[in-house]
Amino acid sequence: MIALRVSYFLRCTSTGLRNLSTTTTKPKTGVVLVNMGGPERVDQVHDYLHRIMTDRDMIQLPIAQDHLGPWIAKRRTPEVQKKYQEIGGGSPILKWTQLQGKLLCEKLDRESPETAPHKPYVAFRYVEPFTADAFSQMENDEVQHAIIFSQFPQYSCATSGSSFNEIYKLFQKRTIPNGMRMTVIDRWPTHPLLAKCFADNINKELQQIPEDKRKQAIILFSAHSLPLKAVNRGDAYPSEVGATVHQVMQELNFSQPYQLVWQSKVGPLPWLGPMTDEAIKSYVKQGKKTFVVVPIAFVNEHIETLHELDIEYCKELAEEVGVEIIRRVPAPNDHPLFIEALCDIVKTHIKNKIPVSSKFLNRCPHCINPNCVPSKKWYSEVCAF
Ligand code: FES
Repeated sequence: MIALRVSYFLRCTSTGLRNLSTTTTKPKTGVVLVNMGGPERVDQVHDYLHRIMTDRDMIQLPIAQDHLGPWIAKRRTPEVQKKYQEIGGGSPILKWTQLQGKLLCEKLDRESPETAPHKPYVAFRYVEPFTADAFSQMENDEVQHAIIFSQFPQYSCATSGSSFNEIYKLFQKRTIPNGMRMTVIDRWPTHPLLAKCFADNINKELQQIPEDKRKQAIILFSAHSLPLKAVNRGDAYPSEVGATVHQVMQELNFSQPYQLVWQSKVGPLPWLGPMTDEAIKSYVKQGKKTFVVVPIAFVNEHIETLHELDIEYCKELAEEVGVEIIRRVPAPNDHPLFIEALCDIVKTHIKNKIPVSSKFLNRCPHCINPNCVPSKKWYSEVCAF
């Protein structure tokens, strides 16, 4: 069902425009949708992996990252390309982000006329359209207020932090355009409409399960894992993902058994668990064989939902271990409640006039990343309403 929705979406969405315009007049407010991105074509996979493996904000290899990172990227390319081929030839993350930005800015134009016109700009970390492109385009458009809006609801120094550090590094090489103000929305794990959106999607999947099995269905909230080293440095991500899970379950009146699990571990070092696949196997051994899987830290479909969850776990693993029913909840994508959530987050940010949160400016207690000190200092100086 998810695959059908994605292919319909791919057919219906324009592929020509990188950053969509919702207005013909000059935008007053630019909404910069920050995310890691994903390759739209298999021939982009190598460069995408290369950028990830050489980004020390994202991954800290124990030795010679400049050599080891490119080597790992090259070695992993064929296997990752195969996965992208199996989900239709590329990641749909850009198309979902463009659509989300377009719907968000149209809604903002209606509901916040004083800051209109609004225009979305996509800033990806590892694939086009890059952060630098988004800011160049805003400079050309003479945007007055750039709202840097992280599309990771829960903040991690590896993902959100890397994107914010990238913006800081960009402005060490160029100046902030004259007259452009910058502010930051760094996290929104417990926004009530985000929880309502997940709850609505979960309820729809629960309704597809025969009534006699529904009560026992375990909701598995699955999020991208983190190395324990990062967790122990004080990364906020695990606690913020947990907060989202709790809020969603509150929306559902705690009607089902549920569990937070973690996916996408790579390498031999210890990562935050329990892992999603291991949890499914163990529950089946306990005689529990009905599941609803929720990608709780992803706001749109990409390789981790379409391949890892749908193909590797909900299909291959489920058949192998004897799962009876397993349904995967869609990512928020273009759910109206999700667009409403995005709009409310931006409007509240504008109304509250807090240019950057104090949590964002405070480093992890055991931060060892040399980029974080100057980056946080820079944001504290430049962000203003
Ligand atoms: Fe978290 Fe630097 S690693 S602030």
